[in-house]
This record gives sequence, C-alpha cells and structure tokens, in this order.
Amino acid sequence: MSDVVNETAAEPVSGLIPLKPLGKVLAVTSGKGGVGKTFLSANLAAALAKRGLKVLVLDADLGLANLDVVLNLYPKITLHDVFTGKAQLEEAIVRTAGGFAVLLAGSGMVEYSRLTPNVREDFLRIITGLLPHYDIVLLDTGAGISDVVLFAVSLASEVLVVATPEPTSLTDAYATIKVLVGEQSRQIIRVVVNQTARMGDGRAITTQLQQVLDRFVVSKPGHKVRLIHQGDVPSDPSVRQAIMRRQLLVQNMPGCPASLAIAQLAGKLEDALITQPRATSSASAATRR
Ligand SMILES: Nc1ncnc2c1ncn2[C@@H]1O[C@H](COP(=O)(O)OP(=O)(O)OP(=O)(O)O)[C@@H](O)[C@H]1O
Ligand SMILES: [Mg+2]
Repeated sequence: MSDVVNETAAEPVSGLIPLKPLGKVLAVTSGKGGVGKTFLSANLAAALAKRGLKVLVLDADLGLANLDVVLNLYPKITLHDVFTGKAQLEEAIVRTAGGFAVLLAGSGMVEYSRLTPNVREDFLRIITGLLPHYDIVLLDTGAGISDVVLFAVSLASEVLVVATPEPTSLTDAYATIKVLVGEQSRQIIRVVVNQTARMGDGRAITTQLQQVLDRFVVSKPGHKVRLIHQGDVPSDPSVRQAIMRRQLLVQNMPGCPASLAIAQLAGKLEDALITQPRATSSASAATRR
C-alpha cells in the first residue's frame, strides 16, 4: 500500500489558513451513486492545489462517508467531533499530501444522514467558518435528492453534477438537475461526464440534457437553465488502480488520460469560478436556505 498520504499527515493542521476574501463553494453531486464524485473531488482538489489555490474538500456524504478511504487517511478528529462540540473546527482539518485540506466525516455520522434542524445549523456554521480561509471549498456530497444532499448542495454557490454515459446515470442526472432548478432556483449547473469512452461523448450528453431541460424545465419566468459542460474524464484503468492503492491519481499517474482530463477540468473551473467568476456565476445567496 502506498504512503502517498501517510498516516502522520492525518494529524490536524495547526489552524485554518489565514483569513482572505470569501471563497467559492462547489458542490460535487450526482443523481446516480458510484459515478465518481469522491474520486473526482479528491483529484480535482489536488489539481486545483497544484495551480496554487487554497482548497478544502468537505466530506458531505455524511451517512456513507468514504473520502478518508480514498485518501488513505485515519483522522483522530472528524466532523463528528465538531458537530458534537468535542473539537474545534480547525482541529478537524487535515492537510493531505495532495496539497489540499480535508474535513472528514469519519464514522459515527450515520445519525446525521437525516436532515434535522441541528444538522442544518451545524453544516451552515461549518461552511461559513471555512469559507473565508479557502479559495474553493469542494463538497463531496452523496448521490440523489435526499434532504441532506439537497441541503448540502444548497449551501454551495456552484454545482458540479457528475454523470456517466450510462442511460440510468443520465436519467438520474436529469432528475437531480430538475430538482435543483425547481427547489433552489439554479440557473447555471456545471456538468462533468465521467468514464467516457470517446472524446466528445460528454459534450453530446450535456447538449442532450440541455435540450430536454429547454423543453420541460424553466427556472424563473424568462430565465432558462443553462448547463455548462465543464469537461469529460475518460474511463481509465489507472483510476481503479489508484483507488485500490488509495493514492491520488493526479499525483501518482499524472500522465494517464484521466489525470490529464482532471488537470484540464481544474484549469477550466479555476477560470470560471476564480478568475472570471462574474460571467458564469450561479445564483448563490438566493439558493441558501
Ligand atoms: N474515470 C474513471 N475511469 C474508471 N473508473 C472510474 C472512473 N471514475 C470512477 N471510477 C470507478 O468508480 C468507482 C466509484 O467512484 P466514487 O467512489 O468516486 O463514486 P461516488 O460517486 O463518490 O460514489 P457514491 O455515490 O457511493 O458516493 C471508483 O472506485 C472507480 O473504480
Ligand atoms: Mg462518494
């Protein structure tokens, strides 16, 4: 087993990164489960960190958290301890060998997989506390349209829906997008198509989803929902290899097709969210509930 992210790296960092202007919160979500949200969140974070950004990934899949497994981390203090008041937020933040920070849910979070007023408050408090310290906070959410998932997504200024070319993933992506538009008045939703077989597959899929949305879904009177095709990540045997070794793909196999695609995706996201955020920014404050 690799020591790319060694166990000592799971010691909490001494504090939050010094205060700077409010960053962006990007929820990585999907309709169907197992499409690659956690893999992409971790590797995208590493690719964004490599570009010089201060990045934190929050394991927002409270019931089925497994970001720790993907990163081979064994944190002593987790989100659970922050939620229950046993630890301060900064004590639960762990720096990874990928150059980004994580806030891991760990075990014991199953009780938080139901949206109660406490869960809402704790979540909001934590994200608000993190936001000033990072350029971008990625929320690795669960799949589907449960209350907890939708609430986590509602805290994000930007949403990245992960789909795969499988028909079931596409219908579920469409259902998720429809709910995000209906319940959160989202007008811009970013899409990444993972596990593509051929170049261009992802763009064709996003175009197809856009056509269905144009016919059946309207966000506000006169406002159309716009899907932004953020990129494709090809199906690549190196991904499974990296997951089995609990390594970050972009660090260990930077030249493989999936790593190259993730690096490109990071560049596009940096450009859209950080460098020129105004042109494409989604309604953010309006979506918070
Ligand atoms: N580009 C890819 N090429 C090949 N395999 C991939 C790719 N992306 C993801 N996978 C495979 O899909 C599996 C599931 O990925 P991951 O755990 O990130 O999905 P998820 O969407 O977070 O799942 P969940 O909905 O359960 O949280 C990975 O373990 C990996 O084997
Ligand atoms: Mg996951």
